[in-house]
Amino acid sequence: MSQAPSRTVVVLAAGEGKRMKSATPKVLQPLLGRTLLGHVLHVASEIRADQTLVVVGHKADQVGAFVSEVAPAAASVLQEQQNGTGHAVRIALDAAPELSGTVVVLSGDVPLLRAETVEALLATHERAGAAATVLSAEVDRPAGLGRIVRDAKGNLERIVEAKDASPDELAIREINSGIYAFDAAMLREALGKLSTDNAQGEEYLTDVFAILAGEGHPVAIEVAEFAYETLGCNDRAELSRLRVLMRDRVNDAWMRSGVLLLDPATTWIDVTATLEPDAVVDQNCQILGSSSVATGAVIGPDSTLVDTSVAAGASVLRSHSVGAVVGPEATVGPYSYLRPGTKLARKSKVGGFVETKNAELGEGAKVPHLSYVGDAEIGAKANIGAGTIFANYDGVRKSRTVVGEAAFVGSDSVLIAPVEIGPGAYVAAGSAVQKNVPAGNLGVTRAQQRNIEGWVRMKRPGTVSAAAAERAADITPEQE
Ligand code: UD1
Ligand code: CA
Repeated sequence: MSQAPSRTVVVLAAGEGKRMKSATPKVLQPLLGRTLLGHVLHVASEIRADQTLVVVGHKADQVGAFVSEVAPAAASVLQEQQNGTGHAVRIALDAAPELSGTVVVLSGDVPLLRAETVEALLATHERAGAAATVLSAEVDRPAGLGRIVRDAKGNLERIVEAKDASPDELAIREINSGIYAFDAAMLREALGKLSTDNAQGEEYLTDVFAILAGEGHPVAIEVAEFAYETLGCNDRAELSRLRVLMRDRVNDAWMRSGVLLLDPATTWIDVTATLEPDAVVDQNCQILGSSSVATGAVIGPDSTLVDTSVAAGASVLRSHSVGAVVGPEATVGPYSYLRPGTKLARKSKVGGFVETKNAELGEGAKVPHLSYVGDAEIGAKANIGAGTIFANYDGVRKSRTVVGEAAFVGSDSVLIAPVEIGPGAYVAAGSAVQKNVPAGNLGVTRAQQRNIEGWVRMKRPGTVSAAAAERAADITPEQE
């Protein structure tokens, strides 16, 4: 039985990307949940490469560290000086002398490329028995890109860089995407023959095609079905265009899978997030990181979920959530902030202007208005009155508060941790509670109210308050 030839992916990621004008290397710029390079490494994993080599150069430590983090099986190869794409691939192959089979070259700054397109390139490469195959694309504005020069029969003759091209060649609209498949041995041999005799004084990987074709080896072209997939980006304006293209692709896929996006143009879903059919996302929402939204849940308008899971039938209205778990049919918002460690059980409620952190709400528990709930466990059906503060920090350490099942905390209370409110206990409004309130007790800490008769008449004569008090006195029965 013959074995499938081994596949090595070489990702070119040594360039600086000067025009990004960023302290962050171009390939580490973020795009909907992954860096540019992260997207490319993901494609490498999807085509089941036996080996992935990433050529790093500019900020090699940082890019290399990223590679080991997201693709531990991949190896970084250092290209100290960026002497061109041919030089970069040569260095990668030198680092893997035993390498054979097929070499796929990907560019670290072409993040929209899909694995299916690389598979199509590989299929064409294998069907043609080619020494080298290039992924080309027909584009309206080829400026700056390498052009595919075909002979009279339509076969690939060579690839010419824009800076080296004649006016006739510049008129060609079929461009080189910078994505290729090669036979490893042929590639290695041709790379040894590259010169730097060109406008940029670099070793062009593209020259491998003219070398191999000139020696009579078959070379092939796969024209990309969707040209936009081959787009790279050099500055932030181009990056933002890629972001829009990827957003639309991601959103289309979710809508086709049954998710209702009410305004896809203002919905930004990271490629790492997931949604179930019949989930609803209203206008202006970001669903980021590892977030998930279950069926029947409603997100937005104006909500951001970061690493947050929202269960079936729950809603998150005009709120911001990071690292939270929103249980089935729970409701959040408007205008609330869920921070990491927030866990909302079934049918629990976080209403308006509430901040939670490390806080678990039991089934049906409610924090309806204007509260801070930090480091707390709130039992099922408990009710936390408006303006309650869980004072979890004494300036030195954080402590926990436990509120029992069906407890009732009156408005404007401060629960000073560590403290426990027992099941079914009440806290009188306006209390500052620092001793435990046992089950079924009423905890009250505020001073008794006293009224000073006639105070306004004596201390605030001539004010509107005094006048109102006077009128009220006129119609009060005791005064008759
Ligand atoms: C290259 C192609 C061009 C093609 C274009 C597609 C060559 C000579 N030209 O152009 O035909 O249309 O890509 O985008 O290959 N890199 C290294 N080391 C280097 C040089 C580049 O790792 O020494 C990396 C870059 O970081 C980048 C990729 O290779 O990820 C492409 O390099 P870039 O300079 O952007 O390509 P161009 O020269 O514009
Ligand atoms: Ca270049």
